[in-house]
Amino acid sequence: MRLSLLLPFVLLSLNFLSLWPSMALPLSTNSRWIVDENGRRVKLACMSWASHLEVMLAEGLNRKPLDTISKKIVSMGFNCVRLTWPLFMVTNDSLASLTVRQSFLNNGLTESIAAIQVNNPSLIDLPLIQAYQAVVSSLSNNNVMVILDNHISKPGWCCSNSDNNGFFGDKYFDPNLWLTGLTRIATMFNGSSYVVGMSLRNELRGPKQNLNDWYKYMQKGAEAVHAANPNILVILSGLNFDTELSFLSNKQVQLTFTEKLVFELHWYAFSDGQAWAEGNPNQVCGSLGGNFKRRGGFLLEQGFPLFLSEFGVDERGTNVNDNRFLNCMFGVAADLDLDWSLWALQGSYYLREGVKGMDETYGILGWDWCGPRNSSFLERISALQSPFQGPGVSEVAQYNMVFHPSTGLCMVRKSLFEPLQLGSCVGSDHWTYTPQKTLNLKGTFICLQADGSGKAAKLGIICNDSSSKWEPMSDSKMHLSSTLANGSTVCLDVDMNNSIITGPCKCLSRDQSCDPANQWFKIINSTRDEVTRELSLKTFPLVLST
Ligand SMILES: *[C@@H]1O[C@H](CO)[C@@H](O)[C@H](O)[C@H]1NC(C)=O
Ligand SMILES: *[C@@H]1O[C@H](CO)[C@@H](O)[C@H](O)[C@H]1NC(C)=O
Ligand SMILES: *[C@@H]1O[C@H](CO)[C@@H](O)[C@H](O)[C@H]1NC(C)=O
Ligand SMILES: *[C@@H]1O[C@H](CO)[C@@H](O)[C@H](O)[C@H]1NC(C)=O
Ligand SMILES: *[C@@H]1O[C@H](CO)[C@@H](O)[C@H](O)[C@H]1NC(C)=O
Ligand SMILES: *[C@@H]1O[C@H](CO)[C@@H](O)[C@H](O)[C@H]1NC(C)=O
Repeated sequence: MRLSLLLPFVLLSLNFLSLWPSMALPLSTNSRWIVDENGRRVKLACMSWASHLEVMLAEGLNRKPLDTISKKIVSMGFNCVRLTWPLFMVTNDSLASLTVRQSFLNNGLTESIAAIQVNNPSLIDLPLIQAYQAVVSSLSNNNVMVILDNHISKPGWCCSNSDNNGFFGDKYFDPNLWLTGLTRIATMFNGSSYVVGMSLRNELRGPKQNLNDWYKYMQKGAEAVHAANPNILVILSGLNFDTELSFLSNKQVQLTFTEKLVFELHWYAFSDGQAWAEGNPNQVCGSLGGNFKRRGGFLLEQGFPLFLSEFGVDERGTNVNDNRFLNCMFGVAADLDLDWSLWALQGSYYLREGVKGMDETYGILGWDWCGPRNSSFLERISALQSPFQGPGVSEVAQYNMVFHPSTGLCMVRKSLFEPLQLGSCVGSDHWTYTPQKTLNLKGTFICLQADGSGKAAKLGIICNDSSSKWEPMSDSKMHLSSTLANGSTVCLDVDMNNSIITGPCKCLSRDQSCDPANQWFKIINSTRDEVTRELSLKTFPLVLST
């Protein structure tokens, strides 16, 4: 009796651990995967936390105690922070010697000083670099991994083509000073086990860009960081605001060390102007999703991890360009099972572009840093926080999940007799997408079938007819289409109650006003094993009592 009560509890804990295994740091790379000391995949699910603006202090410390913010990050399911820093904070003596209070006074932010004194009294009279170290310590104490990102040279909002911080040789970008700064920071955090990586420079850009200097200085920067801190991942960014790494397909970097190199890329809707809002989403997703793979996604196949180190959207949900982008990008990110960092944690800034207390509409936290800006966005992104695949995640043979990017949910079945639904991807069914294009419940002859336009998709056992075959279609390749017995084509869809139905395929023309996201699904590979454990949870007490 006692045993049967106890065992499910033990299994439940195992179930939890299988999603977030405790990490054995430091990290290294194994082909395209980032792995821990035990060779198990660690998926970076980070947020950027800005600490590179004029005052050079991590944002939000006027609103909440540091430890409260660190704990909030954990409670929202993120395991890592990309903490930015400006080069001059460590290379310019008159800046490096400032205390937090002096830095805020210099910027006319007296109200913030009072608020920091209330929320973080121990930080206010620290030198800036010690305050930066305190932020890293707090994150470490809460088991949050940290990636140190050299975001800019001259402290301030980043980035423009003409801000003189863009490329080696720009007014504020002396390569030797940069190498000095990288070495200082890498040395400072040698031995800080939760500092798992350093990004050498954010968003290279501007008229001075050229490949010769990219190879020359990125290789030097990588060697400098590795020499000072051999434990951390060295993360290299691309050209044109970190949207371009395609040149690596012809020529790789030459480094003296291995298993520590990661590349990073940024992807925003606005990287392509208003393309998403002004085009047909199927076509734009097909073409810009393809660009993403050409510009850097191919590195995964070459055996390098690719860190999507910035992406984000206006979380109020009112920006059509952003919304359409996110639906597509979620499909790509799930399909490639990318490591990523959301822009951004901060709900507001002390001072940004001359505006005090500026709101960050891309921030996961609200303006006051009290809670999530948009809890539905948070729920949606949680689908991407745990790994689908990779070394150590492979506790079961590979299966498929049917992922619905616009909700972050997956196709699930409550029982054989109830309609299929959207539900949590954690513990979702195991499907097999067969060479015959049927979608079978794994290990069974039971397959998904279209039953008519506007009707629930059903499960059946005669799977050789056209209504049991599912073909990715449209330019996005995210529609899953099937042909009814009478010859008409339908697409997998979702009704108002989150039930899986089939209906007429949407937005296949060049219509720009049409949004197909509800019909976008992605069949992704997974080796997570929550379902097996969930089943054993249900069956174990029965077994024991017999
Ligand atoms: C250091 O920073 C101060 C304040 O921004 C600036 O006036 C000075 O020119 C900088 N010094 C160097 C050597 O860049
Ligand atoms: C960095 O720390 C390691 C121990 O983790 C030590 O062996 C090494 O000498 C340190 N490197 C530098 C440059 O301080
Ligand atoms: C959250 O995002 C959803 C979807 O984009 C949107 O409909 C909703 O209005 C947003 N809520 C808030 C509070 O901004
Ligand atoms: C096939 O049946 C569906 C109803 O499920 C109907 O909407 C459609 O018009 C029919 N197509 C043809 C070609 O008869
Ligand atoms: C499907 O399989 C059944 C039984 O094997 C067979 O009788 C039927 O002709 C097949 N139908 C098609 C469309 O191939
Ligand atoms: C959704 O569920 C409600 C309540 O269960 C039901 O009344 C309604 O008909 C359902 N709508 C659809 C489209 O199935």
